[in-house]
Amino acid sequence: MTAPDPGTSALELRAVTKRYGTGQGGQVTAADDVTFTIEAGAFVALTGASGSGKSTLLHMIGALERPDSGVIISGGTEVTALRGAAQADYRRTVGFVFQRYNLLPALTALDNILAPVLPYRTSWDKRQRATQLLAAVGLAGREHSLPARMSGGEQQRIAIARALINTPALLLADEPTGNLDSATATDILDLLARLRAEHQMTIVLASHDPQIAARAERLIRLRDGAVIDDIQLTKDRPVQDIIRHISQLG
Ligand SMILES: Nc1ncnc2c1ncn2[C@@H]1O[C@H](COP(=O)(O)OP(=O)(O)O)[C@@H](O)[C@H]1O
Ligand SMILES: [Mg+2]
Repeated sequence: MTAPDPGTSALELRAVTKRYGTGQGGQVTAADDVTFTIEAGAFVALTGASGSGKSTLLHMIGALERPDSGVIISGGTEVTALRGAAQADYRRTVGFVFQRYNLLPALTALDNILAPVLPYRTSWDKRQRATQLLAAVGLAGREHSLPARMSGGEQQRIAIARALINTPALLLADEPTGNLDSATATDILDLLARLRAEHQMTIVLASHDPQIAARAERLIRLRDGAVIDDIQLTKDRPVQDIIRHISQLG
């Protein structure tokens, strides 16, 4: 995969809407006419209270779910038009990091990183790449550690390395620091920022925590599935100011 062209759009959502039945005959609008464009190489946070639709958007961008209407274009591919094998191929070009790490407990750290590519033939050396990624997330030498023997922060590092095994141009992270203490959360955000620069990835990170979201370059805020705020965060704007701005919006 070639590096994204800076200035080209990595991701485009046009009027994306998704509704779920509530089981009592009602409906919830998890994504409400969402339209935005994300430039290649950007670090964007989706924020908003629990239930505002952050995960739903990430799942649709990663082709784990399909919108009821609207179009999603990722890296030039119309994701919403994909079916079957083409959809599965696309999913493998996207890295996904979850709140609960989702490591396989019986596998070592190295085998967890390798797991997504084990069934496939690759033109590159899988073990070599997995070992490099282990070092890139600061865990060189921990090849044989089992998840149960690792801290939450270490497990999330392994999950991030696993998400990078296919050299994704797009990394989707859903509350990746939600289970971590704030010092470890900061380490994980630093790691993501560094990996983004090194691998020239686009990162879309969902977090209900404004302190976490404020680490991104741009903040898209959701309420009831709709975009209610879209702000560019500049280096000279203090984080506290951004958080105050967000909390004023309620
Ligand atoms: N699979 C599902 N079935 C029914 N309702 C869902 C499903 N997934 C999400 N929802 C609902 O959609 C809304 C948005 O959820 P979600 O995207 O998980 O929000 P967030 O990640 O911001 O907490 C919520 O009201 C949630 O209950
Ligand atoms: Mg969520």
